[in-house]
Amino acid sequence: PVETRVKDLLKRMTLHEKVLQLNQYTFGENDNPNNIGTEVKNLPAEIGSLIYLHTDPKLRNQIQRKAMEESRLGIPILFGFDVIHGLRTVYPISLAQACSFNPDLVTQACGMAAKESVLSGIDWTFSPMIDVARDPRWGRISECYGEDPYLNTVFGVASVQGYQGEKLSDPYSIAACLKHYVGYGASEGGRDYRYTDISPQALWETYLPPYEACVKAGAATLMSSFNDISGVPATSNHYILTEILKNKWRHDGFVVSDWNAIEQLIYQGVAKDRKEAAYKAFHAGVEMDMRDNIYYEYLEQLVAEKKIQMSQIDDAVARILRVKFRLGLFDEPYTKELTEQERYLQKEDIALAARLAEESMVLLKNENNLLPLSSTVKRVALIGPMAKDSANLLGAWAFKGHAEDVETIYEGMQKEFGDKVQLDYEQGCALDGNDESGFSAALKTAEASDVVVVCLGESKQWSGENASRSTIALPDIQEKLLLHLKQANKPIVLVLSSGRPLELIRLEPQVEAIIEMWQPGVAGGTPLAGILSGRVNPSGKLSVTFPLSTGQIPVYYNMRQSARPFDAMGDYQDIPTKPLYPFGHGLSYTTFVYSDAKLSSLKIRKNQKITAEVTVTNAGKMEGKETVLWYVSDPFCSISRPMKELKFFEKHSLNAGESRVFRFEIDPMRDLSYTDATGKRFLEAGEFIVSVGGRKLTFEVVD
Ligand code: IFM
Repeated sequence: PVETRVKDLLKRMTLHEKVLQLNQYTFGENDNPNNIGTEVKNLPAEIGSLIYLHTDPKLRNQIQRKAMEESRLGIPILFGFDVIHGLRTVYPISLAQACSFNPDLVTQACGMAAKESVLSGIDWTFSPMIDVARDPRWGRISECYGEDPYLNTVFGVASVQGYQGEKLSDPYSIAACLKHYVGYGASEGGRDYRYTDISPQALWETYLPPYEACVKAGAATLMSSFNDISGVPATSNHYILTEILKNKWRHDGFVVSDWNAIEQLIYQGVAKDRKEAAYKAFHAGVEMDMRDNIYYEYLEQLVAEKKIQMSQIDDAVARILRVKFRLGLFDEPYTKELTEQERYLQKEDIALAARLAEESMVLLKNENNLLPLSSTVKRVALIGPMAKDSANLLGAWAFKGHAEDVETIYEGMQKEFGDKVQLDYEQGCALDGNDESGFSAALKTAEASDVVVVCLGESKQWSGENASRSTIALPDIQEKLLLHLKQANKPIVLVLSSGRPLELIRLEPQVEAIIEMWQPGVAGGTPLAGILSGRVNPSGKLSVTFPLSTGQIPVYYNMRQSARPFDAMGDYQDIPTKPLYPFGHGLSYTTFVYSDAKLSSLKIRKNQKITAEVTVTNAGKMEGKETVLWYVSDPFCSISRPMKELKFFEKHSLNAGESRVFRFEIDPMRDLSYTDATGKRFLEAGEFIVSVGGRKLTFEVVD
């Protein structure tokens, strides 16, 4: 019936009413509470969508009532907002979520965010972001699931499933928006809003796969990206928006432009004025204009001039109405009006955010098993600008998060260690600047301790949109603080909270242990403290490579092989070729031993499946979770292939002494084939290698 209702409604709409559906305005941008009444009054009742910058369900209902009762056809407004890693119950940034290698937890977290959103009057989130990113200078790397197409695929799908639930009409489902379609992560030099030079091969191999999978998983909408892709901006790119998305993948929802992206076609040099920008974006396949007011101004004219056909307008409007019908907005346009206490920060939701934070934190280094802290440790010096920080632990794009909801590292440690350990705090320095006046007090505290926990990191403003950095090193002042503390001659645990991988070349040799806690949201203190105490066995693995230095960027695990792989000099004269911590790196307090790796057969036909298996034994004394990562390589092929590609992973908990057989069923067409520069997939006969836990298994595929 959705299609019947869409058609019926379309028949009754005037061109003007149709065009209004193609526009998205913002509500609450000028945040003056005295203006709300006027803002509601001035809002056209027939508008397609609003970016709803409030979270008040009553106000939403008031606006919606206007649309339902004052517009001729009673078409509900679609309320959108950037719910990126939680609304009020903020959970870890996406880059961290992927380190959990636990997509089920991410589905649950997105489901929880969807519920808080619905109860705040939001029907649509501009998430997930599935832009593969390989340049950590780019501020938006914090918002994606790392450097790998497969991880972005798995976590993108998990997130769509969490937001959208079983079906969009469920009471607590919201529509997802895949962004930024496509290739935004390839921004030159990690600068934001810049040109991206993406070859057709890279487009199909690296940037499109997460989108294709999420479209197949039912994602309702997409956002076109800001970047100019090899000469054709994404927002005016017919090939990606129409030929691939609509014609090839048969997506029947809609595409919204990014903020002012249509007007920006002028600055990108492909439209001479706003009218031409409207024409180009609409023709390419952008159905909704985010905030530009350009479609409102020009689409009717363009139809009158016959530059745009009525059938194109109808198709665009139908796509938007379809999503509104599927969400059930026509049948239930209003939301429940609960109190803040009833809708936010429920105990079970905070517990979920904590579990996700716990599984996302990565133990990068643990020399001499300094961690977990031994029971002989009686005095801990907790030093550094992140130790009592709350706001920055929220990370970027957490507009509705409150610093006072956040559990700090200090609070988490107090709770964890209680009277058993004396905790002495000194800030030492700020996140940036050159004030070293706190250094000497910090050193004194360190000298009096058994172990020093130094908490360094990034401000949340150093990640997110328009927040790129020319270096991924921490500011000098923070590095200096740590080097200063070395004089105490005490073992040091370095705790990092950041929205990107960091350059640790000067810090790493100075410390015994390193934990990357990322930006965990409201509930990071207890999980971190649990890892320090040993109550929690760390299980996160890196979703992104930590380069040795900024100059080593780009460096990612699935690069192509060098033409001189055995050349002793390596890539650079002054640094080794290997990164500091590769993708997939992450230590545990127990030891997992891999054995009996084998294949179900050594030769298969192209249409046969083959199973690889490995036994993993927890050979240590502590229960722990292990993620088994399965990679595939094709050493010789018609095109050069990445050195290895992640094709499957599984995470399970193993008790001390327990063994488990992990299996990966290889489907040759899915896992061994490659795409050419037009998106066509090929499977070639020959030798393939599947690797797991450092073991390599070779098999042959025959015609
Ligand atoms: O959703 C965002 C997008 O990621 C960047 N520009 C603004 C949009 C809406 O806030």
